[in-house]
Amino acid sequence: MKTGFVLNENVRTELSGEKIKLRTENTSLYYGKFRALRNITLSIKERSIMAIIGPSGCGKSSFLRIFNRMNDLIPGARVEGKIEIDGNPIYGPAVDVVALRKKIGMVFQKPNPFQMSIYDNIAFGPRQHGIFSKNDLDRIIETSLQQSALWEEVKDKLGQPAMGLSGGQQQRMCIARVLAVEPEVILMDEPCSALDPAATLRVEDLMRILAEQYTIVIVTHNMQQAARVSDMAAFFMMASDRAGELVESGATTQIFTNPKDKRTEDYITGCFG
Ligand SMILES: Nc1ncnc2c1ncn2[C@@H]1O[C@H](COP(=O)(O)OP(=O)(O)OP(=O)(O)O)[C@@H](O)[C@H]1O
Ligand SMILES: [Mg+2]
Repeated sequence: MKTGFVLNENVRTELSGEKIKLRTENTSLYYGKFRALRNITLSIKERSIMAIIGPSGCGKSSFLRIFNRMNDLIPGARVEGKIEIDGNPIYGPAVDVVALRKKIGMVFQKPNPFQMSIYDNIAFGPRQHGIFSKNDLDRIIETSLQQSALWEEVKDKLGQPAMGLSGGQQQRMCIARVLAVEPEVILMDEPCSALDPAATLRVEDLMRILAEQYTIVIVTHNMQQAARVSDMAAFFMMASDRAGELVESGATTQIFTNPKDKRTEDYITGCFG
């Protein structure tokens, strides 16, 4: 199939021997009586980028939120099936949700800086986890901003309000804020949709670097982005009862050049959605 997608040459397609970081098995999600996801079985390998793609309303954000239990905050939401990190359950009485959310950070569609300085934004998480020494915080803040490729732009104005940064800078600051608590997984829900093309490419470059250390799951409506940045991709679609289902998943190169399902091909070539 000729699609004209630019695939990242550094993408690793042979991940079969690597460790599975996140896994769902027969996972369903309900909002009250409405079933938003049906029987999703998907494995996400450690230190890779998984792109979740599919039309609006098929449950991509809901799926992402299953992993850090953000859906817990929605009244009436409940999950079924197996959901694991490193082979351990994410749901259940023994799970410490605060520790889980430290391990699994999230970056949202719209940058959401807190109404405080750049420094305090990034120090927020570490302080919550009991780090108060100025030396330690200074070090964490510099490292996180270096990792998120923002340090050079903000090192002389760390005390200024984060709201004064540009959209692309705010999003990289939000990524630094996630990195500051040393997570293992980063969930990104359309992280570039509010950014211009140059800022988008910066965030994509950053994701490739971060994937050497972290497991990343990204939801995106930008097919070029999914093709450029991800190692693996999963295509979701709504069934007739509006429940989201996994149509197919696999190496990004396969999904974008040789999809098994006609619906995947139609979606990625822009025939619907
Ligand atoms: N808090 C909620 N309460 C009730 N229903 C919800 C809630 N959040 C999402 N839904 C429903 O679940 C389904 C999936 O929504 P979700 O936001 O996960 O889709 P999505 O694939 O992320 O869509 P988009 O691409 O537009 O962001 C939709 O039918 C939506 O109306
Ligand atoms: Mg969404």
